[in-house]
Amino acid sequence: MVNQSLFRSDEVSDIKMVRGEGVYLFDETGKRYIDSAAGTFNLSLGYSNQEVIQAAFSQANHLLHCTSSFTTDPIDNLAAKLVETSPSNLKIAHTKVSSGSVAIEGAIKLAQYYTGKKEVICFHRSHHGQTIHTMAMSGFSFRNQPFQFSKDAIYHVPYPYYYQAPNKTPEEVNNEVLTYIEDTVKYSSCDQVSAIVMEPILGLGGNVVPTQQFFVDLREYCNQKGIVLIFDEIQTGVGRTGCMYASDYFGVQPDIMAVSKGLGGTGFQVASILMEEKFNHMPAYYHSFTYGSNLMSCAAGVKTLEIISQPAFLDNVKVQGAYIQQRLHSMKDKYDFIGDARGVGLMTGIEVVKDKLSREPDVDLTNRIKKAAFANGLIVRTSGYGKGNVVKVRPSLNITGSKSKELCDILDATLADIDSGLRAKSPKPQKTLSCSQPLV
Ligand SMILES: Cc1ncc(COP(=O)(O)O)c(C=O)c1O
Repeated sequence: MVNQSLFRSDEVSDIKMVRGEGVYLFDETGKRYIDSAAGTFNLSLGYSNQEVIQAAFSQANHLLHCTSSFTTDPIDNLAAKLVETSPSNLKIAHTKVSSGSVAIEGAIKLAQYYTGKKEVICFHRSHHGQTIHTMAMSGFSFRNQPFQFSKDAIYHVPYPYYYQAPNKTPEEVNNEVLTYIEDTVKYSSCDQVSAIVMEPILGLGGNVVPTQQFFVDLREYCNQKGIVLIFDEIQTGVGRTGCMYASDYFGVQPDIMAVSKGLGGTGFQVASILMEEKFNHMPAYYHSFTYGSNLMSCAAGVKTLEIISQPAFLDNVKVQGAYIQQRLHSMKDKYDFIGDARGVGLMTGIEVVKDKLSREPDVDLTNRIKKAAFANGLIVRTSGYGKGNVVKVRPSLNITGSKSKELCDILDATLADIDSGLRAKSPKPQKTLSCSQPLV
């Protein structure tokens, strides 16, 4: 068949996927793949989750769309469930947004409307979406280069990335970032910053996890300066960390939080902005989209939250996350080209490097791992928005023990093959004593 879609990059394969079930995706030949990227990090309950589909379809049979001039149960129920399960200071949910990008843009409007200020601070290698404004906010370049849009009123600051700062303590890195933020507010912006927008764990940029102290200090600084702290929990939210939100995990409350992806459970398109009551003066019509609050998706969101917010469900995320992290750490110990393994709950990843000493990112090798894993029936995604050398392992949250093991076994076997290929090409020299080695 002639391909009539928009030009696709070489990265997209011609393999046609036809069916999904739980953590598995099946292509048209019947080959099965275990998906460690949970679709696009959105299938919190895996492929084709029947409970969510039934809730959504039953709503679709009653009412699929209704103008937001009227009240409807699915919207009210979703807002109530979101508020019930999110950090306790967030009392209002706005669901009339159609995607993560649009939720982030709404969060910016709310901060500007409330503070009367325009400027925004975002982080290097962050990803906040693909609309013109969220691209300008995002701290990556590879998808931005050809376009001519303004970054007026947006400042980018470093993200605390400890592994890439080997000679500094996390405390030193945190202090440097916080000083950079303070200087930006004072000298670049002359105190016109309305909001700081942050992914609490850098998602597409490389699974980078700041320390809790960083958030404590950032929260305190925002309080002092009256800057609105916005968390982009589009990837980290809805159970991914083993807590409902990364905000809960770090024990820090943002003023506004954007949620999407995992909220749709098994792939329904739904997003939301949660906020403190003080923002509830901006009329909803300033940020309302025809296909925001799709009633079928809202019903899916309610069912998803009902399932994920159960303590036993979140415990499973912690248990599976701990198992996968332990396996990733042992891969790090085994293979010279894995420099770091890190994560929280089921938001994990490994950093691929040329060697452990230099920590230099090895993007080619990372892409080879991704390809080889795919051939072995494992889907992994890499950190193209960051340095490109992190293999992300973020399966659906209802993964079971045997499937976590299967995922790790395939990844480990893939890395072992790559390792033996590398060793065959350049056999390791015999160890000789060097000055940096302790003398025995
Ligand atoms: C952290 C984060 N923010 C925002 C977005 C944008 O969401 P959407 O693609 O639904 O617009 C994404 C999507 O990958 C994301 O990972």
